[in-house]
Amino acid sequence: MNAQIAMLCSGKGGTGKSTVAVLLGAQLAARGQKVLLVELDSGLRSVDIIAGVYGRTVYDIEDVLCGRCAGEKAVVESPLYRGLSVISAPYEGGDIRPGPLRALLAAMRPYFDCILLDTAAGMGAPFCAAAAVSERALLVLTPDPVALRDGRIVADRLIADGMPAGRLRLVVNRAARDRFGPRAAVADLDECIDTVGAQLLAVIPESPALQQAAATGAALPPGCPAALAGAALAARFCGERVGLRFPF
Ligand SMILES: Nc1ncnc2c1ncn2[C@@H]1O[C@H](COP(=O)(O)OP(=O)(O)O)[C@@H](O)[C@H]1O
Ligand SMILES: [Mg+2]
Repeated sequence: MNAQIAMLCSGKGGTGKSTVAVLLGAQLAARGQKVLLVELDSGLRSVDIIAGVYGRTVYDIEDVLCGRCAGEKAVVESPLYRGLSVISAPYEGGDIRPGPLRALLAAMRPYFDCILLDTAAGMGAPFCAAAAVSERALLVLTPDPVALRDGRIVADRLIADGMPAGRLRLVVNRAARDRFGPRAAVADLDECIDTVGAQLLAVIPESPALQQAAATGAALPPGCPAALAGAALAARFCGERVGLRFPF
């Protein structure tokens, strides 16, 4: 194995990066891939709960990057999604630097098919470190003008720093019919694509099931609209030509 490395990012906070990272990781794992999800959002961690590893984590990414433990000691398998493993972010502090992150990923790559880096909002240290080591990027944005405008800034920055534009994809999260149209702040998906300037990879619906699963650390019910959208996201991430599943 020689894992491909992809980052999830956004300009605005709370767009659903961590939720979509676990959804994508779980669905890639359901396709038979071995997936490692690394949360880089120090202080605002949530992947441990969403992936069900809360309380099972002894070491976190900060311990690994500071050399306090070997990378494999911080890897925890999700009890909810077979094939998905997680390295959690610390509860506070921690400096995500590209050099140690690169070394960790080099050590982990042979054991996984895909490594997902869940970054913090904006273009701080986690974003910069992830951008330095990722082969592709998913911009996870909600359909609102601020998220889209900030997404464009992040996209431009990634491209200016050397990521080929074709390696950048847009995931529109929390989509619902009433979030688009003449009376909504965003007209349609084309406006999302044009504002951000990246090809659309997937549309994930506004989903009470996803929110409930994330909040309680339970598995997402298979077959619910968000799970189906997640399966389409994973298939398209793998290069398959499947439909977007939108409108829902
Ligand atoms: N598709 C969705 N439907 C409903 N709620 C969502 C969806 N995506 C994310 N959320 C909720 O939005 C909040 C922020 O999500 P999170 O993944 O933590 O964002 P980020 O990692 O970008 O900060 C959480 O409460 C999460 O449950
Ligand atoms: Mg997050």
